[in-house]
Amino acid sequence: MSADADHAAVAIDEQRPSNPFTGIGRFFRRNLPRGLFARSLLIIVLPMLILQTVLVFVFMERHWQMVTSRLSAAVTRDIASVIDLLDTMPGQQAEIIRIAEERMGLTVKVLPGNRLPPRKPVPFFSIVDRMLSRQINTQISRPFWIDSSAGPKEVEVRIAIDGGRILSVITRRDRTAASNSQIFLIWMFGTSLVLLIISILFLHGQIRPILALARAAESFGKGQKPAEPFHPRGAVEVRKAGLAFMQMRERIERQIEQRTAMLSGVSHDLRTILTRFRLQLAIAEDVKDLESLNRDVDDMNAMLDGYLDFARGETEEAEGLLDLAALLRQLEETAELHGKSLTSTIDGPTQVRVRPNSFTRLLTNLAANAWRHGSNVKIEARSSGRFLTVSVDDDGPGIPVDMREDVFKPFFRLDEARNLDASGTGLGLAIARDIARSHGGDVTLAESAMGGLRAMVRVPV
Ligand SMILES: Nc1ncnc2c1ncn2[C@@H]1O[C@H](COP(=O)(O)OP(=O)(O)OP(=O)(O)O)[C@@H](O)[C@H]1O
Ligand SMILES: [Mg+2]
Repeated sequence: MSADADHAAVAIDEQRPSNPFTGIGRFFRRNLPRGLFARSLLIIVLPMLILQTVLVFVFMERHWQMVTSRLSAAVTRDIASVIDLLDTMPGQQAEIIRIAEERMGLTVKVLPGNRLPPRKPVPFFSIVDRMLSRQINTQISRPFWIDSSAGPKEVEVRIAIDGGRILSVITRRDRTAASNSQIFLIWMFGTSLVLLIISILFLHGQIRPILALARAAESFGKGQKPAEPFHPRGAVEVRKAGLAFMQMRERIERQIEQRTAMLSGVSHDLRTILTRFRLQLAIAEDVKDLESLNRDVDDMNAMLDGYLDFARGETEEAEGLLDLAALLRQLEETAELHGKSLTSTIDGPTQVRVRPNSFTRLLTNLAANAWRHGSNVKIEARSSGRFLTVSVDDDGPGIPVDMREDVFKPFFRLDEARNLDASGTGLGLAIARDIARSHGGDVTLAESAMGGLRAMVRVPV
């Protein structure tokens, strides 16, 4: 069933017309996290990140620039006033310097000479330099020099003034530029972190019911009793899906029950009649061809047994440990009794967790088919990681490709056409596949390297 679905999906994929978005879609499908939890988290976190980046760069950066520009304009105005005062009242230099210090917060010095030091390279991110330069250019328009890294919190400006002198002004950095946005960033990332933690917790609660549903569906698919009873929980949609699943499960269980009851009822009734038949045959004397009638009754009995087994196959058996090595040894002995040779290998642990009786029956059916049609049989079991695979190879006639699905149908036999002995009922493979699927796996047929048929069992363990 699942294999069919896979084929269907692949077929649909191939039919899809190629368009440029397919490539992008494939890229996202390959590179995005696969889990719902991670995806939903991404859906929440990504917009938040984008919003914050935009906020910081568009809004905060502009705001910061504007404040810085106003502040440097104010400082420049102060410096311009000091220069004007020095120019108009040359005798009052000491007084002017004192007032500038006390009232404007400027440390002013008048230095001799008219040569400014060479400009230092402006740090890329420093908008203080740029703003202050622009303001001095427009308001004072004299040669100047700026060192915005004069001290950790200071900015020094030197301006050539009249009389071959240099005015050196040192002011606090926070008077020329808006205090930087570290605090803001800390707040922003702090709150986002808190929000993120909260959304992780909530998301976790939302995902849990979906996981519970998946677990319940999986264990039902494998025909196991779920470890914990399933109750629909969570968001309305999830709960709806859960309810639909429960109803489906009930319907299927009811159907299986009905089928089992009907089949065993019919088989039982028919067998009673067959027993009567046999008795009558035993006491009847002068009927010709009694021999073939007897054989027909035997065949019918065998068919009914198979029917009953098929019906019983669905009844639940608990999981347990099966000793694969012991089972294969037993198969080897049985094959020998039939005069056939069977070899087997096991790769991985020999104890496997399956439903022991069902699984034994599954392998016995496949092996019996193999030694019935071929004379050499090879069984290879491999339990690696999550799957147990067993292949049964024989050197018989095999099955044509177009028949490989049909032989799984109940009562479908090729042997009649091949004129083999008619002891089979055509249920062996149907039962085998039933068992494999109830384990959550499947049986498939292929060509064997030995020339005959290869039956592959693959079940999760
Ligand atoms: N290993 C095989 N090689 C060739 N043909 C096979 C092989 N296994 C099964 N078949 C064919 O598939 C048909 C169906 O097999 P299946 O096991 O379901 O029934 P059966 O063997 O005829 O009867 P039963 O197993 O119920 O006694 C068989 O009739 C047989 O022709
Ligand atoms: Mg068979």
